[in-house]
Amino acid sequence: MLTKYWKVDEGQPDIEIIKQAAEIIKAGGLVAFPTETVYGLGANGLSEEAVSLIYQAKGRPADNPLILHIAEYDEINKLARQIPKKAAILMKKYWPGPLTVVLKRTDIVPDIVTGGLDTVAIRMPSNNIARELIRLSGVPIAAPSANISGKPSPTNAQDVLNDMDGKIGAVLDGGAADIGVESTVVDCTAVVPIILRPGGITYEMLTETLGKVEIDPAVYGTQAVKPRAPGMKYRHYAPRAPLIVLEGQDVMVKDTLLRKMTAALAEGKKVGLLLSTKTAEDILMKIDNLQKQLIVFDYGAKDRPWQLARELYTLLRKFDVAEVDIIFAEGTPDKGIGKAVMNRLRKASGFNIIRF
Ligand code: TXA
Ligand code: MG
Repeated sequence: MLTKYWKVDEGQPDIEIIKQAAEIIKAGGLVAFPTETVYGLGANGLSEEAVSLIYQAKGRPADNPLILHIAEYDEINKLARQIPKKAAILMKKYWPGPLTVVLKRTDIVPDIVTGGLDTVAIRMPSNNIARELIRLSGVPIAAPSANISGKPSPTNAQDVLNDMDGKIGAVLDGGAADIGVESTVVDCTAVVPIILRPGGITYEMLTETLGKVEIDPAVYGTQAVKPRAPGMKYRHYAPRAPLIVLEGQDVMVKDTLLRKMTAALAEGKKVGLLLSTKTAEDILMKIDNLQKQLIVFDYGAKDRPWQLARELYTLLRKFDVAEVDIIFAEGTPDKGIGKAVMNRLRKASGFNIIRF
């Protein structure tokens, strides 16, 4: 299949182009499109057949349900059986935006979308191109991240094409995603809402809006617990090389990092480092004669992880291109958007974590 490529300006989206993309969705095909979080791989969310193509293109396990994307508030009534008060508050405050709510579903939602669950995940993206596409398609769009299952999510059109070229109808290129990590998924069917996946709408924002909010223990990867969001149980976002996360007390992180990377370099390995600016400077001062075998990405200030959120997946993919043998990543504090970043980083490592 020839994958069409269209560049679109988010500020002034060319409606004629988006109409052509919407025609593909209406005809049961797949279109990758930008959202404020990551690029999505969209299909008609009410068509069992169209949605099955998403699973095929991604190589995604069938028990991992999809999010339905809508453009207008009213559409939720077709898809959700009841809207608890707290869900309504969240939607009003954070839609359009990087928040997904899980609600009891209606019968028009196909089983293939929900993986057989009696709930459905719904979100209204803020990206203009995404919303025009949904509007012009006239149906809710089922869309996971547009990557091959298990790989880092795409945050730009080139990363989408690297995984999906030839397998999908079209990609709309709206430039780099603003946030860079996926939406926050909140289960609103419980009395106290539960964060199933941290994301752009932070735990702190949610507790400020609702009071008490819980976090599914699976977010931290405790092996013994069964995640409520089926997708959270898979190793995910992973670069090819083994990835080790170092987090906690600065001095210990730096010492251990230096020791481990020196050992890896001595074994002739090519080493990838994902570090805060300060740590990168300190480390590089100590090992400058070996830099050729080192690929270093600096993610800015450790206590301001929005930049890391935006760049995380691109950098993980760059380690693949650089063909490093091993990657060490320095963690950021587990709060704000850092909660989402650390969740993805720990999962990308397969929970290969050194914590001080
Ligand atoms: O930011 C995002 O949410 C992006 C963009 C494209 O919108 N989409 C995205 O979709 O991240 P995906 O499929 O990669 O992740 C959906 C997550 C998975 O962890 C899945 O298990 C969970 O949402 N999920 C979907 N439906 C669910 C349900 N009914 N109950 C619990 N978890 C659900
Ligand atoms: Mg995904």
